[in-house]
Amino acid sequence: MPKKIDFLVVGSGIAGLTFATKASAYGKVLVLTKKRKADSNTNYAQGGIAAVFSPKDSFKLHINDTLKTGAGLCHKDVVEMMVKKGPVLVKELYNMGCRFSLNSDGEFALGQEGGHSRRRIVHARDHTGQEIERVLLEEIKEKGISLSENEVVLDLITIDGECRGVYFLNTNNKEIDVIYANAVILATGGAGQLYLHTTNPPIATGDGIAMAYRAGAKIANMEFVQFHPTAVYNINIDGRAFLISEAVRGEGGILKTKDGKPFMKRYSPAGDLAPRDIVARACVMEMIKSKSKYVLLDLSHLKTGFIKKRFPMIYEICLEWGIDITREPIPVVPAAHYICGGIMVNSWAESSIKKLFALGECAFTGVHGANRLASNSLLEALVFATRAAERMQRITDVKPPKRTKTQPVKTGPNLKFAIKEMMVQYLNVIRSEKGLKKAKQMVEGYEKAFEPGIHIINAESCNMTDVAKLIILSALQRKESRGLHYLLEYPKPNPSFTHDTVIAKNGQ
Ligand code: SIN
Repeated sequence: MPKKIDFLVVGSGIAGLTFATKASAYGKVLVLTKKRKADSNTNYAQGGIAAVFSPKDSFKLHINDTLKTGAGLCHKDVVEMMVKKGPVLVKELYNMGCRFSLNSDGEFALGQEGGHSRRRIVHARDHTGQEIERVLLEEIKEKGISLSENEVVLDLITIDGECRGVYFLNTNNKEIDVIYANAVILATGGAGQLYLHTTNPPIATGDGIAMAYRAGAKIANMEFVQFHPTAVYNINIDGRAFLISEAVRGEGGILKTKDGKPFMKRYSPAGDLAPRDIVARACVMEMIKSKSKYVLLDLSHLKTGFIKKRFPMIYEICLEWGIDITREPIPVVPAAHYICGGIMVNSWAESSIKKLFALGECAFTGVHGANRLASNSLLEALVFATRAAERMQRITDVKPPKRTKTQPVKTGPNLKFAIKEMMVQYLNVIRSEKGLKKAKQMVEGYEKAFEPGIHIINAESCNMTDVAKLIILSALQRKESRGLHYLLEYPKPNPSFTHDTVIAKNGQ
C-alpha cells in the first residue's frame, strides 16, 4: 500500500469507479473497498438510469418530475444541471460496452417507474447495476488503476481544516495505518443496514457519512430515509431483502391487499406509479388495516414470455423461493432502500471540509429533496463523479506531514441489532415525536459505549450509532410531514419549513 496517493477513493460503486476512471487523467488514483470490489449498492440496482431520450420527453419534464417527487426541497439549479448532463453520460457508458436493453429500432428501450411522467429509464433488463459495475471494473483494470479489496477505512485525517488522508486497518499486522492523499473521495454508499429489513447489502452501514461527521463536515437531510415499497416478504439473500423493481409496476404490476383487492388508486390518482413515499405508506396502512405482514404485487396477468424476458433475474430468484411470478402474486413489504440525506456537497461534490469530496448515496447534493425520484440515483452518481474528476485538475500537491497524531485504538460492543431494532420501531415509514425522543435517549446510551478514538473492532457499530443519531436529530428538527418523513403529530407539510436540516459536529 502506498503511503501517499494523489486521489484516494473509498468505495467501489458507480460513483467511486466513474470518478476513478475519469480522474486518472489527472493523477494516480487508489480505490479502497471494504469487501469485494462488486459489493456495492450499485451492483444490486435493478431499475436503471433516468435520462431523457424519448422524443415524447424533455429536460423540462424530467426536471419537473424530480422537483414534484422531492416535495419542495430539491435544489432546482442542481437538478437542472444533473438532468441536462444525463444523456451524454449514459451514452458514454453504452459506448464503453454497457449492454443496455434496446428496442427493435436499436434505440434504448425505456422503462417506466413511479413519479415519472414519461418512459425514461435506461436499463439492462432487471440487472442494470450489475452491468454498469462490470463495465466500470473492466475500465479500471484496463487503465491500470489500483483497487484494493477488504480494506477497512476507519477515519479521516484532517489537518488545519483540510482532509489529508485516511486511517485504515492494516489487515497484515492488524494495526492502524495511514494513507495521505491530495484529495479524498468518499463514495461509500448508503446506510440501509441500520434497519432490520433493507434492500442494501451488508456493506451499507453509513461509514462515509459517519467518518465525515466525526471529522466535522456538514451533514444534511438525514431524516429522509427512502423505503422501497416492494421487497419480497421473508426472503433474505446474503444479508439483504430481495427487491422487486419498481419497473415491474411500470410494466403493469398491481399492488393488492392480501385478499386480492387493488388499493393504490385510493391513495393517489397516479395509482401504482405514485412516488415511492406515497406507495410505501399506503402499503403500511393496508398492512395495519388488514393485520397482515405483507401486501401482494401481482403481475400474473402479464404475458409469461414478456415477464421472463424483461425480468429474468426476478423471475428466476422468486422461482427458487417457490413463487412463480407468471402465475401467482408476490408477497411484498417496504424495506429501507436509500438515504436521501448525507454529506453536504456543492455542485462539484466538494464537502464543507477542503479536499474532501463525497459522491453517490453518501452525499447530499440537493437533487433528491424530501423523496428521491426512482432511478435518479445512478444518474446523480454519474454526473457528480464526472464533475468531481474535472475538479481534480485544480487540486494541489501537498507533502505528507512528518508525523500524524497517533490515535488511540478502541474496541466497542456490537450494537448492530440493537440499532436495527430501534430504527424499525421508531424511525420507520410512520414516526411519532414521542418515538423519536425515545430513540434519542437510546442512541445517547449507545454512544457512551464508544469513547472518542478509532474503533477497529466493531467500527461498523460505531458508524451505525453516529448515523442513527444523525437521522434521529434531523427527524426531531423537522416538525412536519414532508416526502419520506411522516410524523403522526404533524401529518401535513408546513409551508414555511422548506429548508434543509443541517447538522455538524462543531455546530456550524
Ligand atoms: C427499482 O428498481 O425499483 C429501484 C430503482 C431505484 O431505487 O432507483
